[in-house]
Amino acid sequence: MTRTTPKTYQVKSFGCQMNVYDGDRMSEMLSAEGMRPASDGEAPDIVVLNTCHIRERAAERVYSDIGRLAKPETGERPMIAVAGCVAQAEGGEIVRRARDVDIVVGPQAYHRLPELVAKAARGENALDTDMPLNSKFDVLPQRARNQRPSAFLTVQEGCDKFCTYCVVPYTRGAEISRPWAAIVDEAKALVDGGAREITLLGQNVNAWTGEDDKGQMQGLDGLIRALDKLPGLARIRYMTSHPNDMTEGLIAAHGDVEKLMPFLHLPVQAGSDPILKAMNRSHTASSYLRLIERVRAVRPDIAVSGDFIVGFPGESDADFEATLQIVRDVDYAMAYSFKYSPRPGTPAASMDGQISADVMDARLKALQELLNEQQHRFNLATIGRRTQVLLERNGKLPGQLIGKSPWLQSIHVIADGARIGDMYDVEISAAGPNSLTGTPLGALEFA
Ligand code: SAH
Ligand code: SF4
Ligand code: F3S
Repeated sequence: MTRTTPKTYQVKSFGCQMNVYDGDRMSEMLSAEGMRPASDGEAPDIVVLNTCHIRERAAERVYSDIGRLAKPETGERPMIAVAGCVAQAEGGEIVRRARDVDIVVGPQAYHRLPELVAKAARGENALDTDMPLNSKFDVLPQRARNQRPSAFLTVQEGCDKFCTYCVVPYTRGAEISRPWAAIVDEAKALVDGGAREITLLGQNVNAWTGEDDKGQMQGLDGLIRALDKLPGLARIRYMTSHPNDMTEGLIAAHGDVEKLMPFLHLPVQAGSDPILKAMNRSHTASSYLRLIERVRAVRPDIAVSGDFIVGFPGESDADFEATLQIVRDVDYAMAYSFKYSPRPGTPAASMDGQISADVMDARLKALQELLNEQQHRFNLATIGRRTQVLLERNGKLPGQLIGKSPWLQSIHVIADGARIGDMYDVEISAAGPNSLTGTPLGALEFA
């Protein structure tokens, strides 16, 4: 069936920050092609579902989303594109299962989206899950001029670690580092477009390496030090890191790079060494703890965050207790925790000792109680600190703005005359489990 070429679009991203970044780049590309984002309440001509394959529930949701889009309450259905990691992993199956899908495009091929839209409009097959040798980054258009205050910048992609539960090495391919100059140029473009904070992204961002402008080999710390000198940029963050790629230089950067924020997302997944071994994490609980100690030695106030999986095959009560113990030992500022989800094609999916749903539920509940309590305590401990909040959006109350602290906590402020994008001086005056209240420091002078 031929269709008219779309004029309005909507890109919906699920999953990790790298998908958010890819979604932004797809939006910018469609805009560069002369389309515009559909406004609120307007039915878009094309919907891009930028999907995540990490856990079963995330992957299955794609099919219900497609079903909903395919049968709108009024009018014609939009052109439907499935992008992201489900597209990469299950491209063929999507085409078979969901006949209303017009385009399937993988995470390394989305620079070809405009061509695929044209093909789909002609009624031709538009499936592209290549992992081409020439990088999408070489052909994507320049970054747009209207950036959010806090922007993402992918510097590294893919994963060679092959944790036994994880699909990412298959959906995103091998580890590659983008070249130094491309990253520095993109960072400048983001700042020119209004970004004040940049989060450097990668599935293993701290595995980034490359030659600098003088031909010297650098690691992520070298890149961070270069971006620290960028005028107009106020804050630098990075995620996600693997414990084995935490170099001496990167740890040192947390002690002396002014714009590098005191926050480290360093997933450990579990606290039991036999489970870590079965996960192929190639670190132990104690090597992880030593790493955290070294980071805290140079930056005592650093907020440490992590990811956890409960119910990995073979996990005994004692193994799970070891996870609770490492959480107590680290004392996290925030964390993400998940029930193990068996994924097609991964070694763990066929391991003995799969854990029942009831046991997983109970373990997740116990772990989350502990993590929530730690997060609340971390937030309470920041009361009284005078700090800066980067204002990112409007709050619900009149005059209220919401932004992030250096420790990545959400802070609400009622700030007369302040605008989104401002770095605003506050004193943290109240803390709940999920957010803080900041009192403008200017206002304190008169209090
Ligand atoms: N590269 C990062 C993040 C990968 S995905 C890292 O190594 O930490 C984000 C998180 O999803 C992982 O840290 C892990 O906690 C979780 N995850 C990955 N595969 C999973 C699975 N099969 N079931 C449940 N959680 C999973
Ligand atoms: Fe997945 Fe492990 Fe790679 Fe992280 S390091 S993306 S968890 S395989
Ligand atoms: Fe999901 Fe792919 Fe990210 S599987 S977590 S969107 S890398």
